[in-house]
Amino acid sequence: MATPADSPLARPEQIQGNILRPFGGGHQAFLALSFANDQAGARRWLAGVTARVTGTIDVPPRAPRGETRLVPGHTLLNVGLTAPGLVVLHPETAGRLAAYEAFWAGPLGPRLDEANRLTTTPALLGDTGGSDPLHWVVGGVGPSVDALLTIAAGDEQTIADAVRRELADATGAGLKELYTQFGVVHRDEADGHRIEHFGFADGISQPAVQGFPDPGAHFGSPVIAAGEFILGCPGERRPPTWKQRPVPARWMQGGSFQVFRRLVQDVPGWWNRMAELAAPGQTPQEAAARALGRRLDGKPLARPDAKPGEENDFTFADDPDGEKTPFYAHIRKMNPRDDEVFRDRGRKMLRRGLPFGPVYDSEHPDNEPRGIAFNSYLSSIEDQYEFIQRSWAQAPGFPTSSLVAYGRSAAEEPPRIDGLDPVLGDKHEDAARRLPAAVVNKIPKPAYGGFVTTTGAVYAFAPSLPALHRLAGSESLDS
Ligand code: HEM
Repeated sequence: MATPADSPLARPEQIQGNILRPFGGGHQAFLALSFANDQAGARRWLAGVTARVTGTIDVPPRAPRGETRLVPGHTLLNVGLTAPGLVVLHPETAGRLAAYEAFWAGPLGPRLDEANRLTTTPALLGDTGGSDPLHWVVGGVGPSVDALLTIAAGDEQTIADAVRRELADATGAGLKELYTQFGVVHRDEADGHRIEHFGFADGISQPAVQGFPDPGAHFGSPVIAAGEFILGCPGERRPPTWKQRPVPARWMQGGSFQVFRRLVQDVPGWWNRMAELAAPGQTPQEAAARALGRRLDGKPLARPDAKPGEENDFTFADDPDGEKTPFYAHIRKMNPRDDEVFRDRGRKMLRRGLPFGPVYDSEHPDNEPRGIAFNSYLSSIEDQYEFIQRSWAQAPGFPTSSLVAYGRSAAEEPPRIDGLDPVLGDKHEDAARRLPAAVVNKIPKPAYGGFVTTTGAVYAFAPSLPALHRLAGSESLDS
């Protein structure tokens, strides 16, 4: 289907890079900045930085299933602005922004749950105990993050220089540096694929965007309407029971919401647990593959014979009882692959995160912080990121809670308890506090988490390039 001329997708050069086309690059940095309530300084800074922002078509395209390679000295830049930051720049945006409930409240703010009871974003998402915002290094209590820069480069020197330049520029305009997080892609020593800290191949499954072919995407990815990622484009069909999304203001069209989370991984804890879970004759790596749904080398349990390029070409349709891929496995919880139904098509995100911290060496244990700088782009923080974190990862009945997808009805079979996501779910004690004992007693032993701690979060909006120019000016955005 041709892209309508008035769709933001018809002008990809105006959409910021890293959304439709990933920055890649091997090294990235996330700079959290405060405007210190200085509107003039913030606008001056934004006018300058906008000239350096990378548009989608200036991001070098990836090779098939490959990564973007950047030569020394070449950097890519994306600017995200939070709700408090947008209000400092243009207070008249507040009325419109308040309709985007999660974005407006931010990762710390007050929220209503399904029963309309007052709660907070951390309580909704399970950011409690060790993940409590009191311990966060970015986005927690203290001055609010107003802008989040994402910088990418191909080597350490280039990223360090770029961060230094951007910080000098920002502080010169009166902004304050709140936190800088460097990230680095780690690779498997044998075949060079990207790995995260537990050792699994990462960067495999992404939705493809209708109307924007990406040669770097893996074969088998579902093609999802651009409106699920870019405001102002048509999205997927939605059941009438879903809450209506706000109509984006003109200046928000061509932009995308951004969810950044700093997630610390307890690598020795994970592997001790996997050793405990391994059945007689099974290795900890095999137990880990069941927890994730893929082997360490990225091969899906659903299709262990997948050849290179086929690692994303499978569904769970022939596994209605979770025998091959347990229902609780991270990739099954996060993407049940019922791509014909709204339930899945309306929950996709473009994942652009990368690891931070050094690889853990069990021969020389250390306490260095390490984990994933999770970074994703989407058009609804509540329907996409928050929903899958709350209602899929942490919900013991998901995915079989929607049995119809498997051709059965609830009357035929009582709801099953699948468990929590071993990567993102609660540990046993926390689950026992939150859930009825009758449910906790049925959760399979491997279906608990507790090895990933939230240590920071920022909800931002990455506007189109023309919108960044307008936000840097003084003319009202209501016009
Ligand atoms: C430290 C935390 C995390 C780790 C170690 C982790 C690890 C992984 C790995 C190894 C994969 C398989 C590779 C791939 O398909 O690209 C994956 C897939 C995925 N993860 Fe995570 N992840 C983490 C956090 C999250 C979070 C916070 C979310 C969102 C709430 C998330 C959502 C997904 C999704 C949607 C997929 C793709 C599933 C598919 O389509 O098959 N992950 N993750």
